[in-house]
Amino acid sequence: MNSGANFSGINEAKADMGSIYDRPDPRAYFNTLETLDYSIPSNAKPLFQKLISQLRRQRSHDEICVLDLGCSYGVNAALLKHDVSMDDLYEHWTQVEMKNATSDEVIQNDQQYFEELGDPENLKVIGVDQAENAVAFAEEIGLVDEGLPLNLEQESLPPEARQNLEPVDLMISTGCVGYVTEKSFEQLMPMVTEYQPAWIANFVLRMFPYNRIENTLRRWGYETEKLTDHFFRQRRFASAEEQNQVMEQLESQDVDPTGLEADGHFVAEFYLSRPAAEVRELPLQRLLAV
Ligand SMILES: C[S@@+](CC[C@H](N)C(=O)[O-])C[C@H]1O[C@@H](n2cnc3c(N)ncnc32)[C@H](O)[C@@H]1O
Repeated sequence: MNSGANFSGINEAKADMGSIYDRPDPRAYFNTLETLDYSIPSNAKPLFQKLISQLRRQRSHDEICVLDLGCSYGVNAALLKHDVSMDDLYEHWTQVEMKNATSDEVIQNDQQYFEELGDPENLKVIGVDQAENAVAFAEEIGLVDEGLPLNLEQESLPPEARQNLEPVDLMISTGCVGYVTEKSFEQLMPMVTEYQPAWIANFVLRMFPYNRIENTLRRWGYETEKLTDHFFRQRRFASAEEQNQVMEQLESQDVDPTGLEADGHFVAEFYLSRPAAEVRELPLQRLLAV
């Protein structure tokens, strides 16, 4: 397997959050990220919803299948299936009443919480993440319909994973590119193009160059558009040191942080990749205006 983009050097600028990604339940994740105002899934939600409603219109089925790369505890699935915001999820998963509960009790409580939210959106979500416990949690409470605990940077997609899955309409990610490179995308492309080519929508921190993923997708007949003049806050910097390192990274890539990262937050941009003919027919700006 070819080696992927060298994001590991860039990642050194970021605080290491690895210890909260693979717990048996999301309390540590939400307690930590609330203090940093992690908000990219909320900021991404309206765009993902727009794409889902467009896909419903264009494809002859009402149930849309979403593959969430780096699904974690099912955060995007929760936001897209239910009428909840990140603030609601922060309130729910940091509640003091559950502080000393076991993970089994958290799971029971969460099954009830999401059930009481009423009928979910007509979506199937396939979740891919290297964090086995997080994926198992997301499946157990029903946010993710099919979980694939995989690190496609280092392992191959098992053939049975591909055979058992629904045709994917939309592949999404928030906060994941940078951890994953074009290698993961290359492996997922046969699966997400097998029936009807899926749209691929990624929110990507400005410090991670997207060109190698874009080139990989081009080999599959995809064209990528970046939403220009739109910036999406991901989270506050954890420290002045983290901010300085990220600013240095950006400056070394000729990316100007003025008014964005310089104001204290990681900032992401939105990339949508679709088959080239579809892009020509309805470019991103017009697609979002419909
Ligand atoms: C910042 S979190 C984002 C999670 C979720 N998308 C969100 O926005 O809340 C990054 C996620 O990427 C996952 N991740 C890191 N490296 C990965 C890899 N090589 N393959 C799949 N997932 C990975 C982590 O386990 C974690 O769940």
